Amino acid sequence: MIKFTADASLRPFNTFGLDAKADLLVEYTSEDDLSQIFHDARVAGKPFLHVGQGSNLLFTGDYHGVVLHSGIRGIRPTSQGEDVVLLECGAGESWDGICAWCVDHGFYGVENLSGIPGEVGAAAVQNIGAYGVEFKDVAVAISVYDVKADKHVIVSVEECQYGYRTSLFKQPDYKQRFIVTGALLGMARKAPFMLDYGNIKAALLERGFTLLQGADRKRGDRSMRGKPITLHAMRDAILSLRDSKLPDPKVLGNAGSFFKNPVIERSRYEELLAAHPDMPKYDVDETHVKVPAGWLIEHAGCRNRSVGDACVYPQQCLVIVNRGHASADEIVQLSRLIVETVNERYAIRLEPEVNFI
Ligand code: EPU
Repeated sequence: MIKFTADASLRPFNTFGLDAKADLLVEYTSEDDLSQIFHDARVAGKPFLHVGQGSNLLFTGDYHGVVLHSGIRGIRPTSQGEDVVLLECGAGESWDGICAWCVDHGFYGVENLSGIPGEVGAAAVQNIGAYGVEFKDVAVAISVYDVKADKHVIVSVEECQYGYRTSLFKQPDYKQRFIVTGALLGMARKAPFMLDYGNIKAALLERGFTLLQGADRKRGDRSMRGKPITLHAMRDAILSLRDSKLPDPKVLGNAGSFFKNPVIERSRYEELLAAHPDMPKYDVDETHVKVPAGWLIEHAGCRNRSVGDACVYPQQCLVIVNRGHASADEIVQLSRLIVETVNERYAIRLEPEVNFI
């Protein structure tokens, strides 16, 4: 099924809830539709933008081109090995739907990525991540439609060039060329769980689970015993951690983290640490660390900053929310104010994670 809508509202396709328009919106439901769409005179040669739920987009104005939305559905186990199950997922499936499905079917690997808004296609482009796990950790291959060659291609995970919230699909040469139609995921049949991030351990202990896994649990001291962690327990813990910090875009328009956590030289971090002894970090490699942008924004004094209806979300300063009727302009102005304030205080330039369109 292919549906063309001229002069379409993009409000349903961006979680900031901004009322931008597209010259043409094309919604489709199968891989085979794409060749037909790109041969259509209304689409051929025009710039295009592929959206999912728009949970990482900021429309700074109307889009003069073609906005595409995939309704390709399906979650199919294709091969079931002793340790790994391969799962084929349509690009239009909700990402959290995949996480819930895997947890229900006893497949391990995406439980820490529970609750992230958006669809599979965007997850593959953006290399979404949370609580110590990234999309790339479970991806095996991505199926794409190559607009230029008018054919379907399989891209291996190595070829995807995944990095922190980035991939081949975001590079200028491929943005207007590859459309993700599905992802092949490799799910594990058993734990270990990834517990080393944020407050996961505390959330599990509070619920009466032991942090010991596998053989360690059997050998463990009695006092360390509790209920063994299950997939459902992990998903519930992650969902409640997210709920406590991140605003629900259905209630308060937002696009999750507005900025990336900046990666800086370790030596620079140590200088900063001398002046700000409580500055947290995540280790990246021997010479680099990642500093939480939310911490920098809060400690630079931006917690209660707003421009019109665009404001910093006080429980997690990394997020900008639309309190009601914020314009794109207000959101952009607030983001600039944050970048400048953080830069003045820490000499670190934040970069948006959100894509400005
Ligand atoms: N912090 C503050 N003030 C704040 C926010 C955070 O001091 O307003 C401190 C926290 O106390 C903590 C540290 O900063 O010490 C890190 O905060 P948190 O654990 O909340 O996570 P994050 O590093 O800010 C990243 C991802 C999130 C992901 C979480 C959990 C980025 C840009 N963001 O945030 O991803 O959910 O980790 O894993 O990497 C997203 O991409 O949209 C997103 C929400």
